[in-house]
This record gives sequence, C-alpha cells and structure tokens, in this order.
Amino acid sequence: MKCLKIIGDQKLTGEIKISGAKNSAVALIPAAILCDEAVTIENIPNISDIKALKEILEFLDAEVVLNDDLIKIDVTNIQNKEIPEALSNKLRASYYFMAALLGKYKYVEMYFPGGCNIGARPIDQTLKAFRKLGATIEEDNNHFKIYADELRGGNVYLDMPSVGATVNTILAAVKAKGETLLQNAAKEPEIVNIATFLNNMGARITGAGTSEIRIIGVEKLHSCFAEVIPDRIEAGTYIIAGALKGDKLKITNIIPEHIDSLISKLQEMGVKIEIDDDCVTVSQTDNLKSVKVKTQGYPGFATDLQQPLTTLLTQCQGTSYLEETIYENRFQNVSYLNEMGANISINGRMIEVKGSSKLFGREVCATDLRAGACLVLAALVAKGETVIKDIDHVLRGYENILEKLSLVGAKISLEEI
Ligand code: EPU
Repeated sequence: MKCLKIIGDQKLTGEIKISGAKNSAVALIPAAILCDEAVTIENIPNISDIKALKEILEFLDAEVVLNDDLIKIDVTNIQNKEIPEALSNKLRASYYFMAALLGKYKYVEMYFPGGCNIGARPIDQTLKAFRKLGATIEEDNNHFKIYADELRGGNVYLDMPSVGATVNTILAAVKAKGETLLQNAAKEPEIVNIATFLNNMGARITGAGTSEIRIIGVEKLHSCFAEVIPDRIEAGTYIIAGALKGDKLKITNIIPEHIDSLISKLQEMGVKIEIDDDCVTVSQTDNLKSVKVKTQGYPGFATDLQQPLTTLLTQCQGTSYLEETIYENRFQNVSYLNEMGANISINGRMIEVKGSSKLFGREVCATDLRAGACLVLAALVAKGETVIKDIDHVLRGYENILEKLSLVGAKISLEEI
C-alpha cells in the first residue's frame, strides 16, 4: 500500500501551478466519442482517473495518444462494446460513457459507476433524462441496458442540480432529434467547459452555466481543439495550505472567480490573501475568526472543499459550524483530525469545530479523495510526522502533489508499506 509521510510545521513559500480540472477532464474525454473525427484536448491533468478513462477508450478501440498534458482521441474505428465492470467501477465519471455511447449509437450496455464512498450517489436523474429523450432502460442489479429507435429532444427537469445528470443529459441530447430543455441544471464551471467543447465540435448548446440549458440536436460533430479549465478544487486546497503555513505562497494558473465562495470565507476568517488576474498569494495568519459554512452547488461553497476547509477551521478561534448539504457521508476525515488533536463533533449533516487546536502527527487513513486532501493539510500544519495510508485516493485527483508541495518547502515523501 502506498502512503504519504509528511513532517509538518514547515513554512510554504514559492509558487504552485494549478493543473487542469479533474472534473472537467473526466467529462471532456468521454464526450470526445460523440465526435465523428479526432479531437485534441489540452491541459489534461496527470492523475490516475485520466489513465482509467484512457483504458476505457482503448477498450472501445479508440486511438488515444496522451503526451504530457495533451490528449488526442481518434474515434473513427470505435466499437460500441459493453465496458467491463472492473473498468467502469474505477471512477464515477465512467457513466459519462453511458450517455455518450447512447447519444452516438442509441444503444449502450454498462454497469453502475464507481467513485468515492461519500454517500449513496444514485443515478436516477440521469436515467430519468434518458427516458425523457425516448430511451428504454432494462436494469438488472448493477447492470443497465439502454436503447432507443431514435432519441428525441424533450423537457428534462432535474430534482436537484446534479453535475453528473447535467453532463449526461447534454451528452445524450446533442445528437437527438429536436430541442431539449434541461431545467434545474448544475451551473458549475465544468459544465460550461464541456458545453464549449461540444459547441466547438458543432453542437448547439446554449445556457450552460445557468440553470436552464437548451440543446438543439445536430447530426454530425467535427474535429476540434479544447482546453481544460484550471482545477478550482486543487487551487482551493493549496490556498488553504497557504492560509495554514504559507509565507507569500503563490497559487498560479487559476480563475479566481471560480473560487469566490472560498475566497470570501477566507477573508471573513481574516486570512491574508492578495488576488490578481490569474493567481492569488496567501500567507499564514494568526488569530483566525471562526465562521459558519454551508455547502451548496456552484456558485455556493463547494462540497469538494468542505473537508480541506475543516483543517483550517481547527485553527480558528472559537466554534465554527459547517453543514454538508450534498453528501451524507462526507465526514470520514473528522475522526482522524480528532486523533491528531482537533476538537470536532458531528451532529447529523453538521459539524462543530472548536478551535484553535494544536495538531500532532499520527498515522491516519485517506478514506476518500478530499478526506485525504484534508489530512495532507492537517499533516502540513501538525507537529511531528504524519503517515497517510491509502494515498491512492489522493493521487486520483491531485496531479504531482508530492512534487508541488516539496517545491514550496514541505517535507513529504511517498513510501510503500
Ligand atoms: N443525486 C441523486 N440522483 C442523481 C444524481 C445525483 O440523488 O441521479 C444526488 C447525489 O447523491 C448528491 C447530489 O445529488 O447528493 C449531487 O450529486 P452530483 O450528481 O452533482 O455529483 P456527481 O456528478 O456524482 C460531481 C463531482 C464530485 C462533486 C459533485 C458535486 C465528478 C466526476 N464528480 O459528482 O466530485 O462532489 O459533482 O459538486 O465531476 C470530487 O471531486 O471529490 C467529487 C466527489
């Protein structure tokens, strides 16, 4: 098993360059199969989720060349095959292939997707959208057979602004006959990135980034070039690292507007932060004030930054309250933070963080991606050595985390135990 060893309490200074957004890249890659030619995507992050998607594309006989941060996907000879469960199980985003294959061939067989164990994560909204577009779904345990003589545009209303269901509805509708109106859509920047990519191929999508998206079906999609937006969650994680241990730590290649909700919360706490066009500079601040935080869909406070932020809340004076409204099981980091010296209690969907607490290095476990990020941050501020087991979860989502943190002064190493 791979683990991270961190000797904490070191100042972090210098620059961290943010990579392409995981949650955009993992949708752009499956979206590429809707194209009738080859596409090129730039700023692909070097993380294990991308390798898992590449494996699926190659299983489908697509030609894929991945060179540094550039991926070229040629789907000219692609075959519509049932993706083995062992591949679809590796990540949540595998179910974007469900929508893209359905959109392209009007037929798909696939298993339930994988993903971090942070809640039930049903796919009912995606299936509802497929039905609205005219598909029939045969469900047997974890296996889905979905087909239609033809997909026709329709009105799809999501019960909640689900990112996955928004992407899947768009992917299934771009080649459907007529117009689809998607209401209560997710407004995350990643949705805009995906709609722009498809529009560059010749799709007709308007309203991405708002709660109402219109998609007019087209017959053909042509070759195009796309760029993945910067990862706002990776950026937020390192900004929090700067608030914990930074000495003018500069986080570059970001779109500050995408992390407005985090920045304004940090300012409310009293964190010293300078904001420029595409970077922020952040330093450790003493006597941070406690705050109340509630996770919401974009532009609200991102659930993916809730666990990383919890580490910073342990350093605030007084009691902070954090409510998680998206996932019911996203507090698995809390018991480990408490073992390190924090004083956090869980009450249903709310945690109460009493600060400030001195943290101490311990052996802990990354139960999921962002819980792991939270523990990396805790290890950076803790006295002594922290060993974080099951670090594969973190490597799924943070490109070169070891190199990026070492370069700014962290004492961090990856070991096999
Ligand atoms: N939901 C349903 N039914 C559905 C879809 C969603 O009940 O059909 C519920 C979910 O259970 C959850 C809420 O709606 O309670 C929101 O889920 P959403 O569909 O928005 O999440 P997702 O698409 O599965 C993506 C990101 C997550 C991120 C969420 C919310 C990807 C691959 N994953 O998940 O990222 O937390 O949106 O922003 O894009 C992460 O990066 O660590 C991560 C988990």
